[in-house]
Amino acid sequence: MSYNLLKGKRGIIFGALDANSIAWKTAERVHEEGGSFVLTNAPIAMRMGQINELAEKTGSEIIPADATSLEDLENLVTKAQEILGGKLDFVLHSIGMSVNVRKGRAYTDQKYDWTQKGTDVSAMSFHKVMQTLYKQDAMNEWGSIVALTYMAAQRVFPDYNDMADNKAYLESIARSFGYFYGKEKNVRVNTISQSPTPTTAGQGVKGFDGFIAYAERMSPLGNATAQDCADYTISLFSDLTKRVTMQNLYNDGGFSNTGVSNEVMEAFMKAEGHE
Ligand code: NAI
Repeated sequence: MSYNLLKGKRGIIFGALDANSIAWKTAERVHEEGGSFVLTNAPIAMRMGQINELAEKTGSEIIPADATSLEDLENLVTKAQEILGGKLDFVLHSIGMSVNVRKGRAYTDQKYDWTQKGTDVSAMSFHKVMQTLYKQDAMNEWGSIVALTYMAAQRVFPDYNDMADNKAYLESIARSFGYFYGKEKNVRVNTISQSPTPTTAGQGVKGFDGFIAYAERMSPLGNATAQDCADYTISLFSDLTKRVTMQNLYNDGGFSNTGVSNEVMEAFMKAEGHE
């Protein structure tokens, strides 16, 4: 259902790789709500070509940008304003990657140049995006910036590996930049902490099937889907959340505040031989 919440608003959406991507679902929802945007992704992700389908469907242009490259980001922010016809109202950072996770390297045996690459892509890129927007004065007053994160920033999930540290850094950047952007430009900055979601990045985490099934049974409302995340993001881009800023907001069906659920306890007792 559309409420025209983003009518006349302009923005940039990072990270739509394929139809499972959280950014893809968000782009579709923003379009439904009347927003216009430029789509962007790393040049290497473009080669898979699927983003063209999304661009066509939503009447959007694509500008490739490696989110770790200031030069690419400067070009992106300048061109996006030209294409969209003015300053921006919303930006979605939906980017994550750990080389240690990809290559199956244990948390206690990291290769630090891989760690650095993951930090740059997954966390520092968020600072780079905001600094570029800030320096170009590219955001309208009361604009909204959202990045996606995971609860491993607060609690240990062993297989999440160094992405846990990257997410902690990302959330901290949202708070710190949110202060300056709020004070000086009335722009809000938040992170959404999302349930495990079956996407390319999500499924790259070791033991993802167990991870998502466990979270489903632990969460009173069940796991939040990519579609749920898109809906939540729309609310944060809209004028209905104008003074929500510097927050890490859980979209997780209640997982983060649940100690244990009856279903998980029953499964555990069964496995222990207590019927
Ligand atoms: P996805 O794999 O569809 O999206 C990740 C995106 O990051 C891809 O589009 C990829 O091309 C992009 N990317 C990687 N390196 C880049 C670079 N150097 N420059 C620009 N873009 C780059 O997966 P998903 O799940 O939609 O991921 C989106 C965000 O949601 C990530 O921040 C992820 O950590 C976060 N998240 C995902 C969860 C999950 O279980 N899938 C749970 C909680 C948070």
